[in-house]
Amino acid sequence: MNSHPRRTSTQVAVVGAGPAGLMLSHLLSLSGIDSIVIDLRERADIEATIRAGILEQGTVDLMTGTGLGDRLLAEGQRHEGIAIRSRGESRRVDFPALTGRAVHLYPQHEVLKDLIAARLAAGGDVLFGVSDVSVHDVTTDTPAVRFTEADGTRVELTCAVIAGCDGSQGVTRTAIPAHARTDYFHAYPHGWFGILTEAPPSSEELVYAHSDRGFALISSRTPTVQRMYFQCDPAEDAAAWSDERVWAELRARVNGNGFELEEGPILQRGVIPMRSYVLDPMRHGRLFLAGDAAHTVPPTGAKGLNLAVADIAVLCQALERFFHQGSADLLESYGRTASDRVWRAQHFSWWMTSMLHTDTDADAFGRRRQLGEIDQVTESVAGSTFLAEAYTGWPIAHTNPDSVVSEAITVSANRAP
Ligand code: DHB
Repeated sequence: MNSHPRRTSTQVAVVGAGPAGLMLSHLLSLSGIDSIVIDLRERADIEATIRAGILEQGTVDLMTGTGLGDRLLAEGQRHEGIAIRSRGESRRVDFPALTGRAVHLYPQHEVLKDLIAARLAAGGDVLFGVSDVSVHDVTTDTPAVRFTEADGTRVELTCAVIAGCDGSQGVTRTAIPAHARTDYFHAYPHGWFGILTEAPPSSEELVYAHSDRGFALISSRTPTVQRMYFQCDPAEDAAAWSDERVWAELRARVNGNGFELEEGPILQRGVIPMRSYVLDPMRHGRLFLAGDAAHTVPPTGAKGLNLAVADIAVLCQALERFFHQGSADLLESYGRTASDRVWRAQHFSWWMTSMLHTDTDADAFGRRRQLGEIDQVTESVAGSTFLAEAYTGWPIAHTNPDSVVSEAITVSANRAP
C-alpha cells in the first residue's frame, strides 16, 4: 500500500450507496453539484439486498420526475388500498378515496438498480468495495473522508459537506460526540419471519392480518414471486422451520372466510428484528446524516426507504441553496425539517405494530381493546383516513422553489395517474 494517500476533492462526499446516498448523488447531479459516493459493499450485494417493497406517493413522484420512472411505471404496480384482517374478516382501506394518493409496489433493490444505473450512465463516481472508511474535520469548512479503494489505494477525499448515508451500522453517526447528541431507542418484543415464495399472488392488494396467533402480512414481488411475513420471537431460528410448518403458521393466521393463501416452494427466509431508533440532531458541523444512519423504523408500514428519500429531498434543497446561492439557512434547518417527518413515521410504524401484533404479556382486556381499535380504524372515515394519509406518505417539504426536487414534484403532480 502507498504511504501517501491519493488526494482528491468533490463538493459532497456521500458515504453509503443505499437509497439515501444514491438518491442524493442523483438529485445533486441534476442540479450541477458534484459528489462522490463510496460504499463498503459490492454493487451485486447492494442490488440483491431484499427489503420492503412499498413506495409512497412522494417517492414515486420524485423518481418519475427525475428520470427514474421507466421501470417503476412499467414493472411496479400502483396499489390503491390495503386489506386489514381481523377475526377472519378483511376490511379495505381505500387510499385515493380518502386522500387522493396511492402507493406503488416496487421493491427497494429495484430502486437501487435504477439509481446505480442512472448514476453510472451520467458518469457519476460510485466506488464500491472500499474499506477503512473514516470521517475527519467535520466541524471545519474542509471536512474529509478517508478510505481505501478496492485496489488498495488509500484516498483522502476533501469536500465542503459530508452526507452520512451509511445505514445503522455505519461509521458516520459515530462522528457525532456523545455530549452533542441524544439517542432514542425502542426495542419491540417481536421479530418478523419473512419468506419469498414461488407462487401466484394470493391477493391483488397487501393484506395486514391480526390474529390470536400473531400478525401476518401478505405482500408481493412479481406475478410469480410473493413476499410474506409473520410475527415471531426475535430470536427465532428461521432455518429450524420446515416449509410445511411455515405454511401451517401462515394459514392459521390468514386463511378463512373465502380467503386462501397460494402456496409454493420457499425460496428465501430470514428473521427481521423490530426496533425504533432516532439520533438527534441529524447534523454535526458539515456532516449531515440521512436515512438509516440517523433513524430506524420497524418494518410495519414500510417507511424505511421512504423516510430516507424524504430526508434526501430536504437535504438536496438545502445543498442547492448552499452551493448555488451561498446561503446556509436551509442547512441550518435541515435537521428540524427532516425530523418532523421522522417522528411522524416513528409514531405511525409503532402504532401499526402495536395495533396489529399480539403481545404475549397482554391481558384479556388488552386483547379485546386491540380489536376495538382495529374496528375504529377500519370502519370510521376519520380512522381510516389517518391510516391512509400516513401510509401513502405526507407531502415532501418544499423549502427551496429553485430546487430540482420542487420541479420534479410539481411536474409529477400535474401528470395523470
Ligand atoms: C412490505 C414490507 C412491509 O413492511 C410493509 O409494511 C409492506 C410491504 C414488503 O416487503 O412488500
